[in-house]
Amino acid sequence: MFTTNTTVLGAAVAAVVLFYLSTILTKTRSPKYKLPPQVPGIPIFGNSFQVPATQQGPWAKELAGKYGEMFTVKFGGSTWVFLNSSRVVNDLMEKRAAIYSSRPPFPMTQDIMSGGGRLVLMPYGDRWRKTRKVMHQILSTRQKDTFRKFQDVESKHLLYDYLHHADRWFSANGRYSNSVIMSVVFGIRSKLDDPQVAKLFETAELFLEQQQPGTNLVDGFPVLAGLPTWLQWWRPRGERLFEYTKKVYKTQLDGVKARLEKGQQRDCFAVDFLNSNKDGYFDETQQLFTLGTLMEAGSDTTRVSLGQMIAGAATYPDWVQRARAQLDRVCGANAERLPEWTDRDELPYITATVKEIFRWRPNIAEIGAPTSLTQDDEYEGYRFPKGTVFVWNAWAIALNPEEYPEPERFYPDRFLNQDLNNGLKGHWAFGPGRRVCVGWNVGEGNVWIAAARLLYCFDFVQDEAHPIDTMRIPQLTKNKAPFPVRIQVRSQAHADLIERTCREAVTAE
Ligand code: HEM
Repeated sequence: MFTTNTTVLGAAVAAVVLFYLSTILTKTRSPKYKLPPQVPGIPIFGNSFQVPATQQGPWAKELAGKYGEMFTVKFGGSTWVFLNSSRVVNDLMEKRAAIYSSRPPFPMTQDIMSGGGRLVLMPYGDRWRKTRKVMHQILSTRQKDTFRKFQDVESKHLLYDYLHHADRWFSANGRYSNSVIMSVVFGIRSKLDDPQVAKLFETAELFLEQQQPGTNLVDGFPVLAGLPTWLQWWRPRGERLFEYTKKVYKTQLDGVKARLEKGQQRDCFAVDFLNSNKDGYFDETQQLFTLGTLMEAGSDTTRVSLGQMIAGAATYPDWVQRARAQLDRVCGANAERLPEWTDRDELPYITATVKEIFRWRPNIAEIGAPTSLTQDDEYEGYRFPKGTVFVWNAWAIALNPEEYPEPERFYPDRFLNQDLNNGLKGHWAFGPGRRVCVGWNVGEGNVWIAAARLLYCFDFVQDEAHPIDTMRIPQLTKNKAPFPVRIQVRSQAHADLIERTCREAVTAE
């Protein structure tokens, strides 16, 4: 009985799926359109089975080497055009941002797993605009001072953790990154090895895993979302992940509400946000995902970026000497004081180092983030249909010797130019156009103060028995350090400085 029912059900699913798939492969074949060279794939699924499940950068870079400034791939029913040079990214995603800033549909990761509420996947439109505006208000450059005081305290805590638990440097980076955001958004700090912090990183990772191209058939063939719900085999898993994620976020929001009742809640964004939502535009799911997105997008990115600095210092130590020379000149060669925000103009090499961290191995978005075209467009002899998906091929651009001489070298000096103080110029780490990272200014600040202080106080030494493969540093690591490294305080004087100036930051409420 069970077998018969399963066979009938399987046949029904296959028939409906094939019917749907056959209806969607016609549009981009129309002679009206002309796409850049297409990477050969297989019928219906296109290139879905060629793309690596994670770390697509080296794969996409190799294709760029073969096909030039643009190539086309098919992930199921979606057509993706990869932009492999800064020139074409500028021409399309920056200059024509008005039509290159939507997102393709993601029925699994956005509609089911996020209840439509993750800003990063929202299509261009009213909901995106309103949610982004709210985030912009707390993350914009005008709010620099709000963040700077938290970045100051938390980076002192970071130094203290490195001094006393050097082997847990990766967790310390996670705590630091998360605590800055938690302070601003919820008015609370995070502790080292805090299980709630671990859960937040876990939800971020669950989302990113599901988001990899080719992971969810329905995200490659959004038309499948039109199947009756009982035939959507991915839905129960998506709904479980949605409920789990909401529960993790809700713990934080409930904490705010409980502290408010007891009169113990500090000023924070979550309170302002709840108070400003008098018209109820943001329902509970949207509230949770707005706050959750800030925690997710704001924590992992800084944690990963600091890891890149450490890998760069351990594998290309020459630049560390130049950074140190400047730090020692400004703060004293014998650990007189920590670098401060007020030193920024005197420390251009640190500003250049931060840009190089973002450029060197862009493993946060190795193939960029997909945007979808909202109307037909023409460019240099090509005609793209509405709905074509575009990505900036971050790995290929960052490692192209024509864009960056000796691209594999960690070499901050390349950014000592007239654009030094424009944090978005010279690399694509925050994305182009209107979808540019809304928290870039906070992320840049997080990395700047931590980099200045860590470089001033610590040495980063590669373990010769386990050299770091800098081309394969994963972003998704299940909370484990992505590579081994030895971290030592520079001198007793530096250790004393940390004891003297940072202990209080660990115990402060
Ligand atoms: C530290 C380094 C960071 C890096 C490298 C980074 C990178 C990125 C990238 C590549 C995107 C996609 C851009 C695009 O689609 O064109 C993005 C979007 C986003 N980022 Fe960041 N980010 C960082 C820090 C932050 C921080 C601190 C926050 C918030 C607290 C944040 C919040 C967001 C949000 C909400 C979006 C979605 C924007 C939208 O779709 O409109 N990011 N980020």
